[in-house]
Amino acid sequence: MKRIIWFFALVVCISISSFSQRKLTVYADKPVAAVSPTMWGVFFEDINFGADGGLYAELVKNRSFEFPTAMMGWRESRTNYQKGRVLVINKSDNSINSRFARITVNNLEGNYSLANEGFRGMGFHKAKQYDFSIMIRSENPKDCRIKVQLLNHSGKEIGSAFIENFSNDWNTYRTTIVTSDSAQRGKLNLLFEGTGVTDIDMVSLFPHDTWKGRPGGLRNDLVQKLADLKPGFIRFPGGCIVEGKDLANRYQWKTTIGNVADRKLIMNRWNVEFPRKSAPDYYQSFGLGFYEYFLLCEDLGAEPLPILNCGMACQFNSGEVVDMKELQPYIDDALDLIEFSNGDESTKWGKLRYELGHPQPFNMKFIGVGNEQWEPQYIERYKVFEKALLSRYPQIKIVSGSGPSPDGEYFNYAWKELRQLSPALIDEHYYKPPSWFFSNASRYDSYERKGPKVFAGEYAAHSRENNEAESRNNWESALAEAAFMTGLERNADLVQMCSYAPLFAHVDAWQWRPDLIWFDNLNSVATPNYYVQKFFSTNRGTNVVKILENNNVVAGNDSLYVSGVIDDKTGELIIKIVNSSSKVQDVELNVSGSKVKRQMLSCSFWLQLIYTVIIN
Ligand code: AHR
Repeated sequence: MKRIIWFFALVVCISISSFSQRKLTVYADKPVAAVSPTMWGVFFEDINFGADGGLYAELVKNRSFEFPTAMMGWRESRTNYQKGRVLVINKSDNSINSRFARITVNNLEGNYSLANEGFRGMGFHKAKQYDFSIMIRSENPKDCRIKVQLLNHSGKEIGSAFIENFSNDWNTYRTTIVTSDSAQRGKLNLLFEGTGVTDIDMVSLFPHDTWKGRPGGLRNDLVQKLADLKPGFIRFPGGCIVEGKDLANRYQWKTTIGNVADRKLIMNRWNVEFPRKSAPDYYQSFGLGFYEYFLLCEDLGAEPLPILNCGMACQFNSGEVVDMKELQPYIDDALDLIEFSNGDESTKWGKLRYELGHPQPFNMKFIGVGNEQWEPQYIERYKVFEKALLSRYPQIKIVSGSGPSPDGEYFNYAWKELRQLSPALIDEHYYKPPSWFFSNASRYDSYERKGPKVFAGEYAAHSRENNEAESRNNWESALAEAAFMTGLERNADLVQMCSYAPLFAHVDAWQWRPDLIWFDNLNSVATPNYYVQKFFSTNRGTNVVKILENNNVVAGNDSLYVSGVIDDKTGELIIKIVNSSSKVQDVELNVSGSKVKRQMLSCSFWLQLIYTVIIN
């Protein structure tokens, strides 16, 4: 007896009798294609405060005073100007972290303080530990001390500790504070006591409970939501932030590794992208940098898929490109990244990985060249990258782009040109209304099979409600994506990687909607779209099986969308059926010719009904 799991994503519950019956034949004994282990993955970009203020658990914004507006995020309070003041000093030594704050206090009662507002406030959970650290140098070490206070939104102290015994040299001081209460929009307050001059830098506050307990690490609940998806790959770090508004603003992985104080902060390109949703305080600290991305992939058992700048800034913005004669440093970045991930201790970049604490290679197999680039300037640069990468690393699988739309002039041109080259996969992006997803469920059934495979690298059904400017995560969009994904699965011989985008959004700081996972400073919520992703990714199977109705694939015929896989490790046959209408549909399955009896196993929750089918 073979177990069959049957998944339904429905508008209404399915009845198993009394309606005109749809007869589907499942050719379970003749699998047609292998499902790639990388089939369902995640796309991560620092948009909507996804990294700083989100996944990266640092609670202090502008911790090293390196934002162009040096005191952004900080607020002084004092009873009298003479009692204390702050001066931001720039060492002007061309170092990455060249600024620090000099606090002069002149009051034994300590009524001068400096507060950090966090990222739309700081979230504190009751009875939890928070790790504070700060670099300090003092001219009057014995006469000064700092009370570190965690405050709730109304200014009530919910935890504190003292830092003292400073010296004339820079040192890092640490303390752990336990909270007596929760706060959704709390803040950090540094109360300066005594009289004298104190210099501070790298002011940092992290929850003690980070993912895997790593100090300075990632927010537990958010990583857990990713882990629950069991992603086959993680694409990082974007998205448009790879490109930057101009080349100076592009993502450069080498500036994101090593000591966090030495990672070069830059403006996040989503900072000013949408005037309606502007976020002038949005910067990239790179506390979550390439080393941490690789670790995250390793933790989740996901293949790393880094996307690198190909010498082109965002074509929706400046469209700046590097002169072809100056492309080599960009290519070197790509070659060096492969060495950083896979090289041994004898190599320059492999050695650095050793020194960072990871002797084992990360075993990176994929690399993306450019994000959403288009026209000949992309192909021209892509060709040089491809030649350099494949001649040094013939095994590496290159992911190339096809522009911002899933059809049209740019798209057709990219595919035509790239077919003559050797990318392993071509990245397609679809941000479209639900109707597009429903009507494109058969998009890949007739795609050319020769040549590169498809990476459905960014997609989301954009469903508008009440003429709102931005789209919503709702039932309709989730259902449309599920319908479309049956088409991706059915064509798993061709479509080998897929990821919804964007991944995260802070409810008080987003720029783009819809998004897969929403969070505030304390909690996170998975959308219906997330559960659709999870159905597919946790029921990936190993081989696609053909399922036909009257000898045709089921891709919207009378509102049904169907795909199926077998899992040769568990012996399961897993069938996904989407009904996009409000009509109850009665479906009879004939598995490889034999009729089956159905038996309801469980009705687990609102989107999903699981049936066990016993084969006669
Ligand atoms: O996912 C949001 C953005 O959409 C990505 O940064 C970009 O690649 C696409 O235009």
